Amino acid sequence: MEARDIRRSLEVARRDGAAITRSQKYRLYPLVVDRAGGVRLWDPDGNEYLDWMGCGGAVPVGYGHPEVRDAAVAAIDKEYAHPLVCYIHEPAVELAERLIELVPGDFVKKVWFGNSGSDAMDFLAKVVPLAAGRPRIISFIGAFHGMTIGSGAVSGHGALARPIPGGHITKAPYPNPYRCAWGPCDPEECSLRCLDYLRNELLTNVSPADETAAVFAESIQSDSGEIVPPGNYFPALRELCDELGIWLIFDEIKTGFGRTGRMFGFEHFDIQADAMGLAKPLGGGFPLSAVVGRVEIVEVEDLYTAYTLGGHPVSCSASLAFIDVLERDDLAANAADVGGYLKEQLREMQARHPLIGDVRGKGLLLGVELVADRRTREPATRDALRLAYRCFELGLIMVAFGNVMEITPPLTITRSDADEALAIFERALADVEAGRFDDAKLDGF
Ligand SMILES: Cc1ncc(COP(=O)(O)O)c(C=O)c1O
Repeated sequence: MEARDIRRSLEVARRDGAAITRSQKYRLYPLVVDRAGGVRLWDPDGNEYLDWMGCGGAVPVGYGHPEVRDAAVAAIDKEYAHPLVCYIHEPAVELAERLIELVPGDFVKKVWFGNSGSDAMDFLAKVVPLAAGRPRIISFIGAFHGMTIGSGAVSGHGALARPIPGGHITKAPYPNPYRCAWGPCDPEECSLRCLDYLRNELLTNVSPADETAAVFAESIQSDSGEIVPPGNYFPALRELCDELGIWLIFDEIKTGFGRTGRMFGFEHFDIQADAMGLAKPLGGGFPLSAVVGRVEIVEVEDLYTAYTLGGHPVSCSASLAFIDVLERDDLAANAADVGGYLKEQLREMQARHPLIGDVRGKGLLLGVELVADRRTREPATRDALRLAYRCFELGLIMVAFGNVMEITPPLTITRSDADEALAIFERALADVEAGRFDDAKLDGF
């Protein structure tokens, strides 16, 4: 394929570099999006890209879905913008009622609304110790819960390691079958070792159980590389939490709303959450977050947390339309089907390409881990950057976290889109493996 002309894109990229701080960028190639539709993007030079990133999971029904778009436009014409903090609007009320119905749990629930995943997890990090009357929280090494100081404090991700708030938060090892903290072992054994350490070390000597309010968890740890915990982990953790009177709080910001093939990721483990953070797909592409949980968690006497435009009527209206489409078109089933197909094809590709160490995930939340050596599992992080860039050059958009390539396309992707993307991915992979890549292209990324 001839090199694509991206001269206009590079001019916008130059202005972007001069005007917008690097502090909010995680860029792997100079993609400038001019327009988008369905599962595709176009740059200002007219080049088309198939989108395996889907705005990090925040565009669940694809770009410009007519029903979501119409609902948003009607809300702009009708309500425009209101501070839910000071008065009432029906889209927020209707969405809260819908979420209460959708979320499993036969207990009284209420909803809190914000603008982004970070503020939802921030709210939970603030409210949970006060609601429980216990000061401490357990969360996981590798967790990504957001970029505010509170959501960053419950995270255990390298990107958030520098600010150091939250001495009341203890980080536990997350069961990672490919890289167990205790060394190579059977996945179920990995779970048992992590649980044993949590119960007998952390909840005994570091964060005593009777001082611990909650455990915060992602049902699949995504920004650390789509780590799917073994099936025995969460049921046993749920039991442990129940025994010790500790709440189990899920961050379903990336895994929620059908992405993994079930409505919420924790449903794969037949358990319930006491509360959960929701965002990304929730707004159907518009900024919106929510916390849904036991009323005694989300409604604490004398504690007030609200943002001026949180629960925006345009976002709530788009969200209601998105949930209608999700349910009517059974997009969770499509995620399970196309995601299962992609995983199978990527595993076949693994047999042809030594750079692929592992393929994992559920539904349309997939990770491809690159290794320099399959035996030592040495991470091939530089190759992940090369691969993301080469895919971009060939017309496929995806992101790499460390040495793991992440796949989170819109849930509307078809098998035929999947085949097209797989062909580009394999060609890019072959180029990287053969050293057909000029590393100078990565300068500045
Ligand atoms: C699991 C998870 N939680 C929280 C967040 C933060 O969400 P936001 O970027 O909308 O603030 C993210 C974002 O990547 C995420 O993946």
